[in-house]
Amino acid sequence: MDNKFYITTPIYYPSGRFHIGTAYTTVLADSLKKYHILKGEDSYMLTGTDEHGQKIETKAKELGKTPKEYVDEMAKMAKELWNKMDINYDDFIQTTEERHEKIVQKIFDKFMEQGDIYKGEYEGLYCVPCETFFTESQLVDGKCPDCGREIVPMKEEAYFFNMKKYVDRLLKYYEEHPDFIKPEYRKNEMINNFIKPGLEDLCVTRTSFDWGIKVLKDPKHVIYVWVDALTNYITALGYMSEDETKFKKYWPADLQIVGKDIARFHLIYWPIFLMALNLPLPKTILVHNWIMMKDGKMSKSKGNVIYPETLIERYGLDATRYFLLREMPVSQDGIFSPEAFIERYNFDLCNDLSNLLNRTISMINKYFGGNVPNYVGTPNEVDKELEEYSIQQIQKFEEKLNEYEIANSLQEIWNLVSRTNKYIDETMPWALAKEENQEKLKSSMYHLIENLRKIAILIKPFMENTSNNILRQIGIQNDELKQWKSLTDYTQLENIKVIEKGEPIFMRLNVEEEIEYLKNAMKK
Ligand code: MSP
Repeated sequence: MDNKFYITTPIYYPSGRFHIGTAYTTVLADSLKKYHILKGEDSYMLTGTDEHGQKIETKAKELGKTPKEYVDEMAKMAKELWNKMDINYDDFIQTTEERHEKIVQKIFDKFMEQGDIYKGEYEGLYCVPCETFFTESQLVDGKCPDCGREIVPMKEEAYFFNMKKYVDRLLKYYEEHPDFIKPEYRKNEMINNFIKPGLEDLCVTRTSFDWGIKVLKDPKHVIYVWVDALTNYITALGYMSEDETKFKKYWPADLQIVGKDIARFHLIYWPIFLMALNLPLPKTILVHNWIMMKDGKMSKSKGNVIYPETLIERYGLDATRYFLLREMPVSQDGIFSPEAFIERYNFDLCNDLSNLLNRTISMINKYFGGNVPNYVGTPNEVDKELEEYSIQQIQKFEEKLNEYEIANSLQEIWNLVSRTNKYIDETMPWALAKEENQEKLKSSMYHLIENLRKIAILIKPFMENTSNNILRQIGIQNDELKQWKSLTDYTQLENIKVIEKGEPIFMRLNVEEEIEYLKNAMKK
């Protein structure tokens, strides 16, 4: 079935409160899902929590809870946050649910039966917090390359997945499917850093801790993180269960979004597991970079963490979502700074968007008693140019979005906002009113409303409340005029009445006060 869109986020470690980095991946996935819904596709989004492992076991113990009590509380917290952020997920999987555990055991058995998994002994350098073994050459200054903490030597009996068996098939797959990995440079990174130096077999079980899914045929082993974690994307759809309807409908995934730190697992091990299961691979895996702070990674001890709730409670959900998506280019690290946040708010949202709406509504009330004139054609060169520009911006927006360049796609919408503001200055409706040039004045008002309608539809996947608010204020009630497919038309509006007094959607912030506020919030 072509008209479907299955999108996944990573499943998050429930090891603490989620900061804006975690929220970023989820907002990105949610916005793309909403875009596909707007386009009329059957879209399905999966998120969840990755709940096994030594770190969780230790954390629960510290809090005097059983691991299950602890992870359930954390999953509840995650769901509350996603609801607050208007994340429209269809399923939330916890890896401690029976529906997942049972299937992971079946998958593991199948790998064993096929001879993909063999027993050996693991000896290596291990990072306890990251639950990952590293080779000497991967370490950075003798420490964990992911978190920078101390690593310890470890040795234990373990099962291994024979990665070498599949590596040629994987390389061929990369070669033949240019859309499989985005951005493209990540593919070369995988080949040069991990595959060319010789891909090592992956250790897939542990005996050193208990909190995990037991290997059925050898229960002193628990299945260690990646076979358990990665398969969530198919167990959640009911793969190998009694009811595979969803799996048949939605697999392969259309888009799987992951952060750069887990790229290796998703671009190498995950496709290999799928090959071993004889399943099709996801169409695209999108690797995004990180939200950093001016002084490096977010960290509680540095006092530079920002939580989504802080931003939402003070500036609203849409401003928060807008900032995350607009300021963080997918293919490079982005920096969160209070200055940048307030600037985007004041310039993009308040000066550009909110003012465009207010100016338009007040002029239509002043000149036409709130009634939007019907389309009179394009009596001006400027009107014609604006129409062409708008259609072109919509195309550009889609091109960028389809390449998953989200920040750039938002930029294209804001170019349209700026161009529409400029149109007011060019047409000078106040002068047209003085000259009693009714035709041009009508046309100018029509074009402004029509562009606001288009802008409202374009921002809907990212900022739903603002989108609905604009449509309400400009008097668009007919559902058809809120649909994606109505974007290409320019002439349909008839008998539209705007509200009597425009309500500002974003109010200008006091720069110094708000920067101070955010700086303090980051220390808490
Ligand atoms: N549990 C694993 C994923 C298993 S998926 C089968 C995991 N969890 S995590 O909670 O540590 O990270 C989840 C996601 O959040 C990752 O994609 C990671 O890159 C992302 N981020 C964590 N910090 C981030 C930023 N500061 N900025 C952007 N994304 C960040 O890894």
